[in-house]
Amino acid sequence: MDDRQRYDRATAALEPPFAILDLAAMRANAADLVRRAAGKPIRVASKSVRSRAVLERILAMDGFRGIMAFTLPEALWLAGQGFTDILVAYPTADRHALAALAADPRAAAEIAITVDSREQLDFVEKAVSGAHPRAELRLSLDVDAGYVALGGKFRAGALRSPVREPHQAADLATAIAKRPGLRLVGVMAYEAQIAGVGDDPPGNAAFARVVRLMQARSARELIVRRGRIVHAVRQIADLEFVNGGGTGSIETTVREKAVTEVAAGSGFFHPRLFDFYRRFSGRPAALFALPVVRRPGPDTVTVLGGGYLASGPPGPSRLPQPYLPAGLRYAQDEGAGEVQTPLLGQAAQELRVGDRVWFRHAKAGEMCERFDTLHLVDGDTVTESVPTYRGEGRTFL
Ligand SMILES: Cc1ncc(COP(=O)(O)O)c(C=O)c1O
Repeated sequence: MDDRQRYDRATAALEPPFAILDLAAMRANAADLVRRAAGKPIRVASKSVRSRAVLERILAMDGFRGIMAFTLPEALWLAGQGFTDILVAYPTADRHALAALAADPRAAAEIAITVDSREQLDFVEKAVSGAHPRAELRLSLDVDAGYVALGGKFRAGALRSPVREPHQAADLATAIAKRPGLRLVGVMAYEAQIAGVGDDPPGNAAFARVVRLMQARSARELIVRRGRIVHAVRQIADLEFVNGGGTGSIETTVREKAVTEVAAGSGFFHPRLFDFYRRFSGRPAALFALPVVRRPGPDTVTVLGGGYLASGPPGPSRLPQPYLPAGLRYAQDEGAGEVQTPLLGQAAQELRVGDRVWFRHAKAGEMCERFDTLHLVDGDTVTESVPTYRGEGRTFL
C-alpha cells in the first residue's frame, strides 16, 4: 500500500477538509533530529507544532527538553497545563501577561522571557510593578547571530536583536544584574541564515553556491563570536542555558562548545520548505486533505479551500504543495484560492468528485491555525484525534 492509499484508507470515515499527522513519519523525523544533535538536548519550538497533545508526545521521547514558546500568554497557558522549562523566545510587550507571570511564582519559576534592550527592561519592570506577590522574573538575552560581510554591506539572517558583540551582551547582562526582581538565566542566538535557509534550492545552482559559501562562513564566524559572548556573559550571570540553531542547522550548532542546547520544531512535521537541505532529509508528517468538488476540464479538478499561505517573503515558495496524487500544479492566475483551488495536470484525470487531494503546508505549525483537530495516523488507521491550539480555542498569533 502506498502512502496515498494508506491515508485514504485511514481517513475514509472523515469529511475533508481535515489535517493528519503520520505518527511513524514524525517519530522517524524526531529520531533524526536527536541523532543530529549528538547528545545535546533539543528544546521544542512550539510555533512549529501548535498542538499541546503533540508537544506532550514529543517531550516524552528521549532527547527533548523544554519548550521554546512564541508568546507569553502561550507560555502561561502551557505552564498551567503542567509544562516546565519554557523559554519565550521573542520579546513581549503584553503588560497583562507580564503582570500575571510575576504574580504566579510557580509559572515564574518555569518561564524565561526574552530581552535585548534596556527599553524592554524598563517596560517589564513597569508592567510588573503592581503585582502581588511579585516573583523574580527569569530573563534570556537574545543575541544577533546574523552574518555580516563587506563592512556591513552584506547581511544574512533575521533582523532581531541589536546586541551583537560581547561587550554589548555584557553591558546588558550588567544592567539586568543591577535590577532586583530580574535574573538573567539564558542566552539565545538563532542563526536563521543557516537554520532556515535551504542550501539546496531547486533550479538555481549559482544561488545554491552562494548560500553554501555564506553558511560556511557564518558558521565559522559564529563559533568565535558566540563563544566570546557566552564567556563575557558568564562573568556576570550564572547561565542555565545557551540556545542556538533550528531544524536546518542542528549539526553545525551543536559543534560549538558554548551552546548547551539547540531548538527545533519544523523538523517534526517536515513541511515543504525543509525539502531543500543537503544535510538532512525528513518524511512529510503533517498533511491536509481537501475534497475534489468539480472538474472544469479533462486535466483539471477543483478542490475546496486551499489558500493556506505561509508567512515570510511572498512568493510561490509560501504556497502549500499539492502532494498526493503526485503531479498536480496550481493554475498560474489563481494559485491557492480562498474557497476553491483548481489543480492542473494529468493526475487530475483519475480524480473524481469526493476524492481527496493531500497537501503539505510550506511551513510547519501554521497549518494548525487552519484546523482544530489533528488526526493521528498509525499505519492505515487513525488511532486518535487531538486538538490543535486553535482546537482548544487558543490562537496566540
Ligand atoms: C529563536 C528561534 N529558534 C529556533 C527556530 C527554529 O525553529 P524550526 O526548527 O521550527 O525551524 C526559530 C524559528 O524561527 C526561532 O525563531
